[in-house]
Amino acid sequence: MYVCVCKGITEKALREAIYQGAGRMRDLKACLGVTGQCGLCACHAKQILDEALLQKSQLQDFISQQSTCMCETVT
Ligand code: FES
Repeated sequence: MYVCVCKGITEKALREAIYQGAGRMRDLKACLGVTGQCGLCACHAKQILDEALLQKSQLQDFISQQSTCMCETVT
């Protein structure tokens, strides 16, 4: 689904950029150009950014917990 029609940026492209390290709207604007023209996509892009950052954080916490358990099992 397109989030930014002006630049042809999809939700998938936004999420990939976020998982690769874009953590702020200015990062998404710099790497993809989102909000670079009319700006109507800003609210939706910010919503996706917030959701993806939360999911990324939860995934990292889960992986961290799993790593801890594996170390305790091995030793
Ligand atoms: S819809 Fe994103 S800049 Fe216009």
